[in-house]
Amino acid sequence: MVDNALDQLLPQPEGPSGKVVEAMRYSISAGGKRVRPILLMAACDTAGGDHSQVLPAACALECVHTYSLIHDDLPAMDDDDLRRGKPTCHKAFGEAVAILAGDALLTYAFELMAHQDLGKYAAPQTVLRAVAVFAQAAGVSGMVGGQTADILFEGKPIDAETLAFIHTHKTGALIRASVEMGAILGGATHEQVQKLKGYGTALGLAFQVVDDLLDVVGDQEKLGKPVGSDIKNEKATYPALFGIEEARRKATSLKDEALACLEKFGPEAEPLRAIATYVVKRDR
Ligand code: IPE
Ligand code: IPE
Ligand code: MG
Ligand code: MG
Ligand code: MG
Repeated sequence: MVDNALDQLLPQPEGPSGKVVEAMRYSISAGGKRVRPILLMAACDTAGGDHSQVLPAACALECVHTYSLIHDDLPAMDDDDLRRGKPTCHKAFGEAVAILAGDALLTYAFELMAHQDLGKYAAPQTVLRAVAVFAQAAGVSGMVGGQTADILFEGKPIDAETLAFIHTHKTGALIRASVEMGAILGGATHEQVQKLKGYGTALGLAFQVVDDLLDVVGDQEKLGKPVGSDIKNEKATYPALFGIEEARRKATSLKDEALACLEKFGPEAEPLRAIATYVVKRDR
């Protein structure tokens, strides 16, 4: 559903600026697990909503996530050449177009949040709440803030608290926001939103701890991105600070923390439970 909706909702390349749309579509359609859109849809259902009605918001998350990957791979950032099993956007289109494709995906995400289908499904103040959660998680209070600290701490000694800051911001915030936005759009009560936020916060950190582990013990073929990128860049990671076994234990205990937040929910939360288990077991 997400792949089809992305194909339909993204602009078509045409005219003198067609290249940037080609680059947007190249990076979006290269693959990717679609974890954030799926989390939004599953959280929406858990709150009693209908996932088929929130696809523009689900796609908006994938646009911001893909922009973050395009910029993350740039020579000035992690300087990686492979993403989602294909040459990175700047390798395929050049740095200038890759930067612009990232900018365009970020902006397009908020155009999608204003999509008329979303406005037909949810009340304006509900959509506005979801937009605020989204913008805060993507920007300086979230992903951009985390990416900044990630870059500034390359090659530097780091403590556990600062490492947790980096991971909860660069990756955790958008994953937590995916769940929170789904809950809000699905009509969750205040108490349900709080529980689902707790689930998303724990899952978001677990997700990056596992990403760190896969950079050490993963397989490039399966991952579709280089292994050893963090070591090359002297990144602050959980395996580097605590060792592989302790990082694995941390990921498992965060998964348990996420599952505990779902205790009051019934079978409607089964997809969210399954996703939590998947996140720590995944090999891509
Ligand atoms: C990779 O995210 C970058 C992080 C924020 C950890 P994903 O592992 O979700 O990458 P795709 O979307 O499947 O390519
Ligand atoms: C990136 O973390 C988080 C983002 C916001 C893109 P990483 O730099 O570890 O992500 P990968 O391993 O390149 O996918
Ligand atoms: Mg990075
Ligand atoms: Mg990277
Ligand atoms: Mg990584």
